[in-house]
Amino acid sequence: MTEFFNTGLSQQEFLEHYWQKKPLLIRQAFTDFESPISPDDLAGLACEPEIESRLIEENGQEGAWQVTNGPLSEDDFARLPATHWTMLVQDVDKHLPELQYLLDPFRFIPDWRRDDLMISYAPEHGTVGPHTDGYDVFLLQAMGTRRWQIGDKPIHDAELLEGLNLQILAEFNSDKEWILEPGDILYLPPHFAHHGVALNDGMTFSFGFRAPSRTDLLDSVVNSLLEHDMGKSRYTDPDLVLSEHGSEINSDAITRLKQLLHQSIDEAEPILASALGKFVTDTKSSLANIAQESLADLPTIDEITRQFDSGDSLSRNLYYRFAWAKNEHGGQLFMAGETYCLDIHGQENLPLLAENSVIKRADWQHLKKDVPSANLLCQLISEGGWNWYSESN
Ligand code: SIN
Ligand code: CO
Repeated sequence: MTEFFNTGLSQQEFLEHYWQKKPLLIRQAFTDFESPISPDDLAGLACEPEIESRLIEENGQEGAWQVTNGPLSEDDFARLPATHWTMLVQDVDKHLPELQYLLDPFRFIPDWRRDDLMISYAPEHGTVGPHTDGYDVFLLQAMGTRRWQIGDKPIHDAELLEGLNLQILAEFNSDKEWILEPGDILYLPPHFAHHGVALNDGMTFSFGFRAPSRTDLLDSVVNSLLEHDMGKSRYTDPDLVLSEHGSEINSDAITRLKQLLHQSIDEAEPILASALGKFVTDTKSSLANIAQESLADLPTIDEITRQFDSGDSLSRNLYYRFAWAKNEHGGQLFMAGETYCLDIHGQENLPLLAENSVIKRADWQHLKKDVPSANLLCQLISEGGWNWYSESN
């Protein structure tokens, strides 16, 4: 049994009793925690044009709850008051690979459910206001202290303050309140109202998860049906009976439509894994420019062997999302919204190709025994999914 931090709960028990169900405060999840990045490092990231960032001022020059989207400039920082603002930077786990170790305690939750590590810095009184999020989040206090107030039930369709570029609850009643110190974590399931206010200069690391919407998933299933030339049968009504009106869409028509939709989902069964895999590995639009930097010619198996022999290894592109699924023929690897197939002999290589953070010479020697798996790695390298690095760097 692997314990979930120091909670006394196994990871499985956390999933059973808390995940997507109720909040959990974990005191000293990381003992003696010291933030691996400074507020200045974070401000530097917020000034980078390709990095998604925001500044939220409770009393901005242009009104209450002013949002300034990054890249932030010297001028933005120069005009800031001493208190009551927050700077937030998304996807820091990808921009700073050295922070990947922070994700390790969460890797028992499927990778493809994870969105990013967002880091915020706020001086005293800094807050983004009371709000709900549509996803699960682990809020790690990384520096300074912050007071968190939360509601003890999820709220759907909450009323928001009008006329803002920010989603702030019009009304917030706190049921529980804690002061978080560095190393403490507050887990919140989706839709639980929360309000965090910095009591002094501090940073919060938000490990955010994501969950595709029904319409997005349906859209992906429909696209997969179209790609596979499936779902072609038409609406039928051999049970049609006389109706008083010519233009009415009556309840029988709706029943037939529902049947047709259920049948379409049944028909899609063989392609559901690929519809989901493609959707959840699609590159986040805000990262598309950085993610694709490293496209290369298709290398041969011999070229790769030589590169491993020279001491280089491969690291997985953190900007791409990967997933895999087994099936009766072998399996599928999903990378950046594309599907790649392996037969039954390659099935065992799927975790190495899609999950490992690095591939080393010994892994390659094993992988090469299955030529389609080796060829797949060649293809993934050419498409930027794996990048060479030298151990000496
Ligand atoms: C923050 O870090 O200020 C906000 C994090 C959140 O509420 O999800
Ligand atoms: Co939030």
